[in-house]
Amino acid sequence: MSSRDKTYSVAILGATGLVGRTMLQVLQERDFPVREIIPLASGRSRGQEIPFRGERYPADVPSAGVFGRADIALFSAGAGASREWAPVAAEAGAVVVDNSSAFRMDPEVPLVVPEVNADAVFGADGRPAKIIANPNCSTIQMVVVLKPLHEKYRIRRVVVSTYQSVTGKGKAGRDALEAELAGDMPETFAHVHQIAFNAVPHIDVFQENGYTKEEMKMVNETRKIMGDDTLSISPTTVRIPVYGGHGEALNIEFEEEFDLDEVRSLLAGAPGVSVQDDPSENLYPMPLSSYEKDEVFAGRIRRDFWHPRTLNMWIVADNLRKGAATNAVQIAETLIDRL
Ligand SMILES: NC(=O)c1ccc[n+]([C@@H]2O[C@H](COP(=O)([O-])OP(=O)(O)OC[C@H]3O[C@@H](n4cnc5c(N)ncnc54)[C@H](OP(=O)(O)O)[C@@H]3O)[C@@H](O)[C@H]2O)c1
Repeated sequence: MSSRDKTYSVAILGATGLVGRTMLQVLQERDFPVREIIPLASGRSRGQEIPFRGERYPADVPSAGVFGRADIALFSAGAGASREWAPVAAEAGAVVVDNSSAFRMDPEVPLVVPEVNADAVFGADGRPAKIIANPNCSTIQMVVVLKPLHEKYRIRRVVVSTYQSVTGKGKAGRDALEAELAGDMPETFAHVHQIAFNAVPHIDVFQENGYTKEEMKMVNETRKIMGDDTLSISPTTVRIPVYGGHGEALNIEFEEEFDLDEVRSLLAGAPGVSVQDDPSENLYPMPLSSYEKDEVFAGRIRRDFWHPRTLNMWIVADNLRKGAATNAVQIAETLIDRL
């Protein structure tokens, strides 16, 4: 019997959140072989009805007993909940795919974007890791386009500026924009400053080196996923008042010369990438057109005329889909082929 004939019990920790709800949607859309769905959240949401495949399931709270019923546990409830519950779920026999930052840089935990390093899901013995980390949303969309270019031209340095959706900060981040647009200004802003009509170059907390934690995630996670500690990544991450996805302006310096048409066709043929690049038709990626899509969209592909072997490009992906839920479900799909 192939594993695709089997069905699986899947727990979703964070099922009432933006990512958790998107996970449920993606599992349905991709027809993941779910035998039982176990929606979990905090005690605040206990009993809240969570829709899945036309039925409604009451949200429960995490416990060793509940994870003992699960084959796969998709976590999206923040780093604190992951630190507390991922070891418990793994011990109870579930394979955990964790969306938080809790284990991403743990050398024992694979950090996976299936288009780039799907094999990392499995250890040398061919068995899946008990905890698998899902990278940060801004990192995921960037490595999906960097991978085919790195293989062909060897990337030396990437300068990246992000334009990140308020939904990257969950329900609180989305609701803050809606409240501010309605004229309801809080005493403490969810995005540090007013986000309506603004751009805030401050995502997560500042580090001693002057970069934010979000920026350092892009540096460290990219190196781990690409398996190359020599990559120079120079990021500036910015929150902007949009839904639908994160945009990133990339300036990529290669070791080898490149050809623009070849770059476009490499990207067009790369898994998970869709090229939208026709300035004559005003065609380029945007958050609104990327909303609820699974691909990373690439456009504005052009040479940096002022620096040798260097390319400029603009990419957009839905942070709740490829940046979180879709990537986690793809990891689960990779898993079930060998579970
Ligand atoms: N948003 C993104 O674009 C994105 C992208 C990549 C990764 N992530 C990561 O995914 C996680 C969730 O993000 P989100 O945007 O979905 O946030 P969210 O909308 O705020 O949802 C948070 C979820 O976690 C649950 N939760 C919080 N504390 C909990 C606890 N102690 N025990 C059990 N459940 C708890 C919440 O339950 P209640 O409803 O009961 O409070 C809710 O279901 C975070 O780790 C985030 O860093 C998010």
